[in-house]
Amino acid sequence: MSETPPFRSVDPETLPRRDVYRLLLFCVSPRPIAFTSTLSPDGKPNLAPFSFFMAGGANPPSVVISPVTGREGGYKDTLRNIEATGEFVINTATHEIKDRMNLASFEFPYGVNEFEEAGFTPLPSVRIKPDRVAESPLQMECRLFRIVRHGEGPLSANYIIGEVVYFHMAERVWDGDTVDARRIDAIGRMGGEWYCRANEPAMFEMTRPQR
Ligand SMILES: Cc1cc2nc3c(=O)[nH]c(=O)nc-3n(C[C@H](O)[C@H](O)[C@H](O)COP(=O)(O)O)c2cc1C
Repeated sequence: MSETPPFRSVDPETLPRRDVYRLLLFCVSPRPIAFTSTLSPDGKPNLAPFSFFMAGGANPPSVVISPVTGREGGYKDTLRNIEATGEFVINTATHEIKDRMNLASFEFPYGVNEFEEAGFTPLPSVRIKPDRVAESPLQMECRLFRIVRHGEGPLSANYIIGEVVYFHMAERVWDGDTVDARRIDAIGRMGGEWYCRANEPAMFEMTRPQR
């Protein structure tokens, strides 16, 4: 009989919230990064990365990001803007723009334009008002479907569910028929300060089993 390998196990209720957060970041990893552009109600651009990010379906195309409630219980600018305007653009974060993306994650005061602070080029969207990030090869224009809050106070979740109303793919990642995954060079967020890079040496193909 094989022995069960040793595990360190913990009930999250017994841990400080900060430690639960850290643990979660290792357990859900790697995460894609939604570099998210919004507008304040008075039209000021905002740009910030969110790795609490997933797609959930395609009929209609549906995505989720979660800007968590801040340490002092306040809401992040992205959440405030989406709640007020109902619109956002998700731009794929790539290795080429990693340092500028990281700079844009600095918690600037509300109203500061991270396109300017971090050196990104705004491109007009087609269906919504917030601009896209020209340096990002894949962009999704989204309209708010619903915000679902889970918990309250610091580090609680604010699930922003959006419907993708327009897709943009840069010619440089287009293979003539669809997107070439090898040309995106996306980065992913892991636990601690770790990231990973989805470039060709790290990638592999696997076909789904057939019936
Ligand atoms: C790669 C990366 C991923 C991040 N993911 C999240 C996230 O999923 N949720 C979150 O609340 N903050 C996340 N942050 C921190 C926010 O980007 C940061 O708080 C930012 O200042 C929020 O900007 P805003 O107030 O303009 O919305 C992340 C930061 C980085 C660098």
